[in-house]
Amino acid sequence: MSELWVERHRPRSVSEMKGQRAVVDRLGGYSEKGTFPHLLFAGPPGTGKTTAALALARDVFGETLRQNLLEMNASDERGLDSIRNKVKQFARTAPLGGATFKVIFLDEADALTNDAQGALRRIMEQYAETCRFIMSCNYSSKIIEPIQSRCAVFRFRPLEDEQMRAQILHVAKHEGLEIDEEATDAIVHISLGDLRKAITALQVAAGMDTVITRGLIYETSATAPPEVLQGYLLACKEDGFQPARRRLRQILDEFGLAGTDLVNQLHRELGVTSFLTEETKLELTEWMAEIDHRLVQGGGEHLQLDAMTARICALLK
Ligand SMILES: Nc1ncnc2c1ncn2[C@@H]1O[C@H](COP(=O)(O)OP(=O)(O)OP(=O)(O)O)[C@@H](O)[C@H]1O
Ligand SMILES: [Mg+2]
Repeated sequence: MSELWVERHRPRSVSEMKGQRAVVDRLGGYSEKGTFPHLLFAGPPGTGKTTAALALARDVFGETLRQNLLEMNASDERGLDSIRNKVKQFARTAPLGGATFKVIFLDEADALTNDAQGALRRIMEQYAETCRFIMSCNYSSKIIEPIQSRCAVFRFRPLEDEQMRAQILHVAKHEGLEIDEEATDAIVHISLGDLRKAITALQVAAGMDTVITRGLIYETSATAPPEVLQGYLLACKEDGFQPARRRLRQILDEFGLAGTDLVNQLHRELGVTSFLTEETKLELTEWMAEIDHRLVQGGGEHLQLDAMTARICALLK
């Protein structure tokens, strides 16, 4: 892969973004006025937060962007020192090229330590006249309240199927691929509203063949096809814990899935499973949400997934 398609097809202006209507409308207003308050973008991966931050900055600053933007990935520079040194240094110097303020973009700000966030809170207030912050995060709950209250908060949603389809087809056309409806649907299905994931899946598949099919997408995207997941649920019902547990391990290995991917894919499969009652589906959904949460919090993958299998088996007995 010479160039990542997610970068090549990243919208450069807010107006080119797909979906996120409520967000895009409000940001468009800022572009028109040429100014904005401190902003906090929260939401799941691949839904346009980094894209929106850079696009808004570009819309507002145009030519003078480079001189007035400090971009930091808070996952790499998460401590107090980075905030004190880099951020404060940049914030205290005057805007350049006729701009009225500067922008500090703290990408993935939920990785900042509490100390760092505490320091940030002062800087945001002290230099608010000449420096605006844009912060992005997956979980706004990891951002301390005083920072949240200094920001206009924007919530990004997983993209809708239609918006995903439109962008997949746009990229496919631009890259000279042949793709049918089944394959497009498979990409939508595996991506769960994450457009980065969708475009990456398309690029990986395209590395194998310029004709994109459903089979190729599942083969190359580290995603279990629906029928395989249905097979696991059926094993829970008919074969019991040990065989079902082995089957789940096998699926993880064979398709190279992370625990949270599996839980989320499985959750979606529940909707179309014919042999479960509504009541069971509701209960399983609650359990899967719990397991997903624990996995995100760092719970051991094998134990959590075994707990899930045990629960499903008990419910389906
Ligand atoms: N709303 C969107 N419209 C058009 N393209 C998008 C949109 N959201 C994501 N993309 C595509 O997906 C890629 C990744 O998006 P982006 O970097 O904005 O995600 P993010 O929300 O910042 O995710 P993360 O939480 O992982 O940082 C972009 O480069 C772009 O190609
Ligand atoms: Mg991002």
